[in-house]
Amino acid sequence: MQALSRALKAEGKTLGLVPTMGYLHEGHLSLVRASKSKNDITIVSVFVNPTQFGPNEDLGNYPRDFERDKDLLKAEGVDIIFNPSDENIYPKEFSTYVTAEGISQLGEGEFRPTHFRGVTTIVLILFNSTLADNAYFGQKDAQQAAILLKMVRELCVPITVHVMPIVRESDGLALSSRNIYLGKQERSDAVILSAALARAKEMVTAGEHITCHLRSELQNIIQKVPTAKLDYVKIVSADTFLDVQTIEEGKSYYILLACRFGKARLIDNLFVDTSGHTIHFS
Ligand code: PAJ
Repeated sequence: MQALSRALKAEGKTLGLVPTMGYLHEGHLSLVRASKSKNDITIVSVFVNPTQFGPNEDLGNYPRDFERDKDLLKAEGVDIIFNPSDENIYPKEFSTYVTAEGISQLGEGEFRPTHFRGVTTIVLILFNSTLADNAYFGQKDAQQAAILLKMVRELCVPITVHVMPIVRESDGLALSSRNIYLGKQERSDAVILSAALARAKEMVTAGEHITCHLRSELQNIIQKVPTAKLDYVKIVSADTFLDVQTIEEGKSYYILLACRFGKARLIDNLFVDTSGHTIHFS
């Protein structure tokens, strides 16, 4: 992969990378389109990264359909699909990990203590393998994106990370490869996550800036749905992912949700930026 990228760069081509774990949907494809619009060559990696799954998580069952992924990527005009094997990436003696300390233990890290260490490690391997100029990630995994931006800045990785908007179903459910785990009832109930975030938006706009009020309203909304097993509602500073007590002017925040519906553990979020004349949400 690196030799190929070096040759392309010698021809003066710019390289865009979209890291994925496959089982692609429109969210992934939106990143592919962003890369294609800005780079001469777009590389999509498809690799279900074992080191980011905890011992009791869904690594073994994680949905896979490489033939379908290939067709979708070909139809988008992707130039290179990078699909390494587990042994390619993690040979037996592998022992070097990258960790963004502190932030990796907050938020999702409280529920998935080794998750972000696996993400930073694989993503640095992908950056170094592809020598990409630009890499594209989704706001869907807001903490992942924040940690990767921090890693790139602090380790002086020569790549620009771009964070793209969340793609949703028409009823508001954020697209996710894990939505396939949802039964019929769970699928219709899962819309409560985006509905709760819409309610948070209304409340913040109306001037509610006390985070425990926002949190308890969202918890109540979600807990009314019998199939929803809420892991957390968190309101954190967008830079540090530390919990905050109030939403202040001139700052940005994430309202983060994680909730289980049957076998599916879903996450969603709302970005809140109070630095302009009007509060900006995305
Ligand atoms: P995966 O879950 O396959 O997601 C790949 C990329 O697609 C991530 O950047 C994710 O944020 C983005 N994405 C997922 N759902 C989205 C949606 N509804 N709208 C917009 N973007 C969306 O995230 C991973 O894989 C892995 O952790 C990875 C970065 C590949 C490292 O293994």
